[in-house]
Amino acid sequence: MENSAENTQQLKMSKSSTAIISGSSGENIQLRSSGGNLQLINQRNAIVIGLFVGVAVSCLFLYHSVNPFEFLPSYSAYDFVPLFTKSEAASLEGILKRAEMKNKTVIITTLSQAWAEPNSIFDVFLQSFRMGNGTRELLNHLVVVSLDPKAHNHCISSHPHCYALNTSGLDFSGSEKYFMTSEYLEMMWIRIRLLTNILQLGYNFVFTDADIVWLQNPFQHFFPDADFQIACDRYLGNPYDLQNSPNGGFNYVKSNNRTIEFYRYWYASRRSHPGLHDQDVLNKIKFHPYIKEIGIKIMFLDTKYIAGFCEVSRDFNAVCTMHANCCFGLQAKIRDLKLALQDWKTFMQLPPNEKSLQRSWSVPNNCSLSAFHPPP
Ligand SMILES: *[C@@H]1O[C@H](CO)[C@@H](O)[C@H](O)[C@H]1NC(C)=O
Ligand SMILES: *[C@@H]1O[C@H](CO)[C@@H](O)[C@H](O)[C@H]1NC(C)=O
Ligand SMILES: *[C@@H]1O[C@H](CO)[C@@H](O)[C@H](O)[C@H]1NC(C)=O
Ligand SMILES: *[C@@H]1O[C@H](CO)[C@@H](O)[C@H](O)[C@H]1NC(C)=O
Ligand SMILES: *[C@@H]1O[C@H](CO)[C@@H](O)[C@H](O)[C@H]1NC(C)=O
Repeated sequence: MENSAENTQQLKMSKSSTAIISGSSGENIQLRSSGGNLQLINQRNAIVIGLFVGVAVSCLFLYHSVNPFEFLPSYSAYDFVPLFTKSEAASLEGILKRAEMKNKTVIITTLSQAWAEPNSIFDVFLQSFRMGNGTRELLNHLVVVSLDPKAHNHCISSHPHCYALNTSGLDFSGSEKYFMTSEYLEMMWIRIRLLTNILQLGYNFVFTDADIVWLQNPFQHFFPDADFQIACDRYLGNPYDLQNSPNGGFNYVKSNNRTIEFYRYWYASRRSHPGLHDQDVLNKIKFHPYIKEIGIKIMFLDTKYIAGFCEVSRDFNAVCTMHANCCFGLQAKIRDLKLALQDWKTFMQLPPNEKSLQRSWSVPNNCSLSAFHPPP
């Protein structure tokens, strides 16, 4: 495992658009913009274009404003280091390309061993696409990023678009020293880094946790002009209201300079909020003036369409996804997601005139019990 000091590179930015990244191992990366040309000197496993766009954008912001990171100990280049080597990025890009919809949009989920056992959450997740109304074809656009070899093997046995993220080079011990976070927390943050890299590759995405059943196509309910739209545990009625409590398990994000900067800022903000996971940090930073400065348009998705066990959709005709949120314990989640699928199947088999009648879900069931007994 690499020494953490080697991974921690300091980024210094001058007011011209030249950034020098120096690692303690002595090598320098210099990015220079001259007449739109990009020169790279001594590059070290970087996705050059993505990095450049990121650095250029943040130089722009830093130039015009107070440093949004001045509350941070230092804005280290650790936050810029892509998850991938160049060849890994190329391999991911190949998979994204095969899975993309017409307009460079993909559906992404991450998968680890516990969720990939036979008869697992992942199986229920895939099954929901097959049972949902107009969701089966979305499987062609779903890319599963597995975080360990067992998850990857299970993925390739049941799905065409699987990418094995090489997590062995990730320096958990180093980050622990820095942030006092656990390996688990680090894994949670990996998805933010992963999604940042996917945005940098120019792909729009729907990120979905695998403990979500897809019952209808959600694309019809996305806001056409939002940059970042996210599901809610509880929805207050106004899609612009930052008081809505977002759930990081489901979001739809367009690839542009605003979203790339936003994700990088989100990831960097964990330093000022050690021990919190990405969703909690999002809840802290959503009011930060820098978000306004980035100019990103954030919107919140109505639980009528993008629902969960915290707040189930009242309307079976409208519901698109159901998330096993507000639920602790894998077995409780699996049981209740299966129940939700059963409810959906029953609904779909109703004659048309009965479909408009008010119905209720049999979930949360086990989840409502387990919610009161969070694991220690
Ligand atoms: C994964 O990353 C580590 C460390 O960066 C590297 O040594 C190893 O060769 C990589 N494995 C694969 C399969 O690419
Ligand atoms: C991509 O295409 C789908 C289906 O036509 C559409 O609903 C969605 O808004 C498009 N996304 C972008 C980013 O243009
Ligand atoms: C970011 O902005 C630059 C300059 O406006 C533009 O050329 C580039 O395509 C943008 N990048 C993305 C990912 O939208
Ligand atoms: C299935 O989806 C189509 C297209 O969105 C919609 O018109 C139809 O009402 C849906 N069926 C049910 C039972 O919700
Ligand atoms: C889950 O719910 C079912 C049906 O209500 C019940 O029989 C079972 O004991 C519950 N299991 C747990 C672990 O709570």
